[in-house]
Amino acid sequence: MNQPRPPGLRALIEPALGETASLLDQTLDTLLPEPAGLEARLIEAMRYAVIGGGKRLRAFLVLQSGRLFGVDRRALARAAAAVECVHAYSLVHDDLPAMDDDDMRRGRPSVHRKFDEAAAILAGDALQAHAFTILAAPETHADPYVRCELMARLANAAGASGMVAGQMIDMSVEGKAADVTTITRLQRLKTGALISFACEAGAIMGKASPPMRHALLGFAQDLGLAFQIADDLLDVEGDDVIVGKKLGKDEARGKATFVKALGVERARSQAQVLAEQAVRHLDIFDEKADLLRAAAAWSVSRKG
Ligand code: IPE
Ligand code: IPE
Ligand code: MG
Ligand code: MG
Ligand code: MG
Repeated sequence: MNQPRPPGLRALIEPALGETASLLDQTLDTLLPEPAGLEARLIEAMRYAVIGGGKRLRAFLVLQSGRLFGVDRRALARAAAAVECVHAYSLVHDDLPAMDDDDMRRGRPSVHRKFDEAAAILAGDALQAHAFTILAAPETHADPYVRCELMARLANAAGASGMVAGQMIDMSVEGKAADVTTITRLQRLKTGALISFACEAGAIMGKASPPMRHALLGFAQDLGLAFQIADDLLDVEGDDVIVGKKLGKDEARGKATFVKALGVERARSQAQVLAEQAVRHLDIFDEKADLLRAAAAWSVSRKG
């Protein structure tokens, strides 16, 4: 994708994502158990799935949204780790033969290829549960009501009203004609819901005012859709080494995407419009939100 972007954007966002990735790897290493006993293979598969890869956009969104309200960085890193556990689980299951049947993820064999299908299913299950264990602990937030709200919102974003519903629709319209309204709903659920939680988590932890929380959710809604359209565009025109997964799979499987419905050019301009719209929701914040603003533009200009 070659659309113009503000100068200095990459210089701002890429180091921040890099720092987020290091923080997350350290945090997840501490929060996940060490492989031991007869279940060692399960723990190894969980660690393989969630540590040492990924762009860490969702973690970044938790850290940056929480920073707006002065939330403690270590606490934010825990919430970010929880979101990345749910995200990694969704990818492990998404790659299974029963779903997208993908052999590569994050530049290496997907979990069921590295281990086996049973280990991949169980590692995904356990990663999801682990996310809630992390959020439930007092180290995540001193106030039990805040912890409870984090858990309730994450459950909602991950489950049958969010990501999993989107995955079901994604599978059920495979090979069929789907209109833009259906595709929008599918993508808001399968990708947007977790991205919305990531942006909301910092506001929940910082006990942000309703207008500020609302602004972050508006930002997240447009960002989530823009990010998934960019993923669909990369499937058509990306470089598989940079993207780290096999490309050209959406067309082969008859996936319902904006690219399929609108063509590459219109899908690209739709993503761009959404990214610009996302940033406008942040007008109520000062320059502390600049990295979030940069993330919106990066989401649609990224190469990987
Ligand atoms: C991949 O998400 C699946 C989508 C929702 C588009 P990411 O592109 O964020 O994957 P990682 O975490 O960087 O590997
Ligand atoms: C996956 O969407 C979204 C979730 C895992 C929830 P895709 O199937 O497009 O993701 P990739 O392209 O395999 O990363
Ligand atoms: Mg999929
Ligand atoms: Mg997939
Ligand atoms: Mg994809």
